[in-house]
Amino acid sequence: MASVFVTRALPGDATDRLSADHEVEVWPERAPPPAEKLRAAAAHADALLTMLTDRVDRDLIDAAPSLRAIANYAVGTDNVDLDAATERGIAVGNTPDVLTGTTADLAWALLMAGARRLGEGERDVRAGDWPPFAPDLYLGQDVHGATLGIVGFGRIGQAVARRAEGFGMEVLHTRENDLDEILRRSDFVSLHTPLTPDTRGLIGARELALMQPHAILVNTARGEVVDTDALVDALEAGRIGGAALDVTDPEPLPADHPLLRAPHVTVVPHIGSATTRTRAAMADMAVDNLLAALSGERMPHVANPEVYEGA
Ligand code: DGY
Repeated sequence: MASVFVTRALPGDATDRLSADHEVEVWPERAPPPAEKLRAAAAHADALLTMLTDRVDRDLIDAAPSLRAIANYAVGTDNVDLDAATERGIAVGNTPDVLTGTTADLAWALLMAGARRLGEGERDVRAGDWPPFAPDLYLGQDVHGATLGIVGFGRIGQAVARRAEGFGMEVLHTRENDLDEILRRSDFVSLHTPLTPDTRGLIGARELALMQPHAILVNTARGEVVDTDALVDALEAGRIGGAALDVTDPEPLPADHPLLRAPHVTVVPHIGSATTRTRAAMADMAVDNLLAALSGERMPHVANPEVYEGA
């Protein structure tokens, strides 16, 4: 029986399946465990089930001598030091596929919200500021027939592209088009790259300056893919038409952050995979990863397959 620390309560019965075979401790609070609590728990754990908000760095891994498996409750694994885990022979699991359609749906919701200024309109109505109909109010832009640029053409990027067919859009993407060309030609630019050293700050002042003045940036990937200060500058100067964001840097975004005062910005709190069905499927997948690893089998969804090389 292995000792497993789970950093947040999971939906569905996935935790029960884990507890049936292992000694499981679940962090009881809604907020993430502070770094020192996670480190203390990891120090005597054989396995961790972590969220994207838990930083699993080299120090933590070094301080966890019996750690054998980490299941991250996300497709992204940028919060985990994969090199340090691999060096120690620790398998790191993630949750691909089950959240692809759900995240693509949210990217589309944001794209539409940005195009038609839904956030601004809704905020005004709630504030009691519903102006009488006028021909020039809340003018947005057409989505149908527009050009969509997709940066990162993996599973989610492709799912976003499939949805664009129904809107008769021209789709440009980074498997076929150069990033600069995508930025120059697109009416909407949607980001779908994982966060890596190469993609951190990928969209900075230079890239934003290449976009068309009406173009809208959609980000459901990771906040750090965009240089936030440069984005605020571009929005304030009207160099781009707007931004619709599920992820930000920093995250959570403080209520007084300049990004929230910039024009034509819609922000939602990292809910790309947040549907009841998908979050339960992610829990099952994360638990399946741990159950396999703890019984000496290959994780079904492993982010560092090198751990199995030569095994
Ligand atoms: C992920 O899986 O990486 C998302 O950001 C959260 O589901």
